[in-house]
Amino acid sequence: MSTPRHFLSLLDLSGEELEAIIERAIELKAMHKRQEPHQTLAGKVLGMVFEKSSTRTRVSFETGMIHLGGQALFLSPRDTQLGRGEPIEDSARVLSSMLDVIMIRTFEHEKLETFAKYSKVPVINALTDLYHPCQLLADIQTYVEHRGSLKGKTVAWIGDGNNMCHSYINAARRIGFTLKISTPEGFEPNSLVSRAAADHVEIVAGPLDAAKNADLVVTDVWASMGQESEAEVRHKVFKNFQVNREVMSMAKPDALFMHCLPAHRGEEVTADVLDGPQSVVWDEAENRLHSQKALLEFLLLGGFEAKH
Ligand code: CP
Ligand code: NVA
Repeated sequence: MSTPRHFLSLLDLSGEELEAIIERAIELKAMHKRQEPHQTLAGKVLGMVFEKSSTRTRVSFETGMIHLGGQALFLSPRDTQLGRGEPIEDSARVLSSMLDVIMIRTFEHEKLETFAKYSKVPVINALTDLYHPCQLLADIQTYVEHRGSLKGKTVAWIGDGNNMCHSYINAARRIGFTLKISTPEGFEPNSLVSRAAADHVEIVAGPLDAAKNADLVVTDVWASMGQESEAEVRHKVFKNFQVNREVMSMAKPDALFMHCLPAHRGEEVTADVLDGPQSVVWDEAENRLHSQKALLEFLLLGGFEAKH
């Protein structure tokens, strides 16, 4: 049996494959709006393992499988043997003998990699401490819909050097845009991730420098899932790393604002920016549905021809 195609990070896709998935996502969105049936995954079953909370990821994957004519199973570690210490390798062998594709949201990225190694079916990263590549599919689709390709553009990342920041770094590599990152000292992105993208990444001093002439400004929460005990300290350290009107005024006049959500108004972003005219966060959230449907088709139906 051949090795399945996994989606553990954006780097698992070539630039052309990424482009083809985004194109298909836009097409699937239009088909859905026209109420045109597109049950390309009839009879297929997605397993969804969540070790962390979720609203968007769970609902988009579950709804996506229903639209595509398949089914999705929500697997909580609380109710399965996953939470009682059954080895990852064994869980992967068993689950992948019954399911057609599996998505996992967990803590350590290595755990996801081990699962994928022993899985006979495609495994999707639905967020780990290191990466959140599914969110990037939606972000890229959203930018393309509003402004066209991100190639050659400048993106500002303001805030924590976290899983979202790392996925933006990988996107900068794959698509070819410049990512200007501004984080508090000690909260920079993982150096292995950023060094590999050195041609596309600049670590800059403050949020105003990062936002200068940017085409897109992005931020995320100050304390991610699993960092709840650090929240108080982080709130003090990050207080000057807020996307507000002053920061947005440094960007290009037609710059967009994105946030993967959930957001905390008054912390990493002010309400006037999040709810303002440059913000595309609601399209970004909706596009989780369309882009993941395209991803599921790509992994299960063997990829698309990249169009040129
Ligand atoms: N953005 C995102 O992944 O949201 P959820 O945590 O609600 O899935
Ligand atoms: N960085 C955030 C993203 C949530 C979608 C977290 O990991 O909690």
